[in-house]
Amino acid sequence: MNSKDQILAWARPEIIALKPYASARSEFKLGEKQMILLDANENPFDNGMNRYPDPMQLKLKKRLAEAKHLAIDQIFLGNGSDDVLNQLMIAFCAPGKDKAVLLPPTFGMYQVSANINGVETIEVPLTDDFHLDIKAISEVQSKATKIIFIANPNNPTGNCFALEDIRKIIEEFDGLVVVDEAYVEFATDKSVISWINDYHNLIVVQTFSKAQGLAGLRLGMAFAHSEIINLMNKVKAPYNINSLTQKEILKRLEEQGLIQQQVHRIKLEKEQLMLEFESISFIEKVFPSDANFFLIRMDDSTQRYNELIDHGIVVRDSSKNLNCANTLRITVGTPDENNALIIALRSMDK
Ligand SMILES: Cc1ncc(COP(=O)(O)O)c(C=O)c1O
Repeated sequence: MNSKDQILAWARPEIIALKPYASARSEFKLGEKQMILLDANENPFDNGMNRYPDPMQLKLKKRLAEAKHLAIDQIFLGNGSDDVLNQLMIAFCAPGKDKAVLLPPTFGMYQVSANINGVETIEVPLTDDFHLDIKAISEVQSKATKIIFIANPNNPTGNCFALEDIRKIIEEFDGLVVVDEAYVEFATDKSVISWINDYHNLIVVQTFSKAQGLAGLRLGMAFAHSEIINLMNKVKAPYNINSLTQKEILKRLEEQGLIQQQVHRIKLEKEQLMLEFESISFIEKVFPSDANFFLIRMDDSTQRYNELIDHGIVVRDSSKNLNCANTLRITVGTPDENNALIIALRSMDK
C-alpha cells in the first residue's frame, strides 16, 4: 500500500467522504488585481479587520514552510495546539470504535480530547524514571489503536525521551504517531520535524504559546504528510485563524533572534532555580528538565502548594498525575518572580 492509501485506511470514512464547507473567499483565489468583494456578507467599510481572514493562511504557511524546511501542503494551523490535537482526533478516530494510546504521566488535553470525541484511551505508563516503555507500547497495538500521543519534552515531567525510542515507535506502530513538541525550543536538538519526509505516520505538533511567547494569540501547528494535512483541512472551521494572529505570527517569525535570547535566559534561570531548590530541606527531588518548567517532589505538596498561594505564588499541583505523588510543577518566571519564589520557599523551610 502506498503512503496515501495507508493514511486513508486510518482515516474515518465519513471524513474521507466529507464535502467541506466552501468559504466564500476560498472559491476564488485573490490575485494581484484589485477586486470588488461582494461575496461574503461583510461590512464593506474598511477598518483593517472588516474582511474575513485567508481560510488557508497561505502567506503565513509560505513563511513557515521556509522556516521549517517543509512544503506548504505539509502544514496545518489551528487555534492553539489543543485545537490541532482535537482536529486530529476528529479526522482519524471513530467515536466508540477507535482507540488512542496515552503515556501517563502526560499532557491532560489528550484525554480530554478523547473524551469529547467518544474515543477510548489505552494507557501505557512511562517507566519509573519517566521514559518510554517501548515493549509495553508494542504490546497494546491492535486494529483499533489509531493514534498515540508522545509529548517530547514531556509535560508534566519536563524530560525528553530518547530519540531512538521515538523512532522505534514510529516504525512499529500501525497508526499515527503524534510527537507534541510544545517545548522543543528549549531542547532544539530533540526535534523530529526533519523525519516528516521519512515517515508518513508521523505528525509533529508545535506551538507559539511557549518559548515563542504568544500564548494569548493561539497558534498551533501540525507538520505531516500532505494527505494527513488534507484530511485535517476538511474538518477545520472555515476561517479558523484570525487576521491579527496571522499578522502577528509573521512578525514573530522575523524576531527569532530575540526568542533565542529569551530561551537562553529562561534556561539559565531554570538552572539557578533548580540549584536553589536543592538547598530547601522539604524538597526531596528535583527532576531533570528539557523544558521551561520542572517537577519537584516534596514532603507534602498540598501543604506547600497552599503555603505558596499564601505568598501570592501560583504553581501547578501535579500530584494527581500517575507516579507524581507529592509533586509540584514549577514554571520558570522572570528573575524577579523566581527570586520571590526562592524567598517564599526559604521562609517556608523554617
Ligand atoms: C505538551 C503540551 N502540548 C500542547 C499544549 C497546548 O498548547 P497550546 O497553547 O498551543 O494550545 C500544552 C500546554 O500546556 C502542552 O503542555
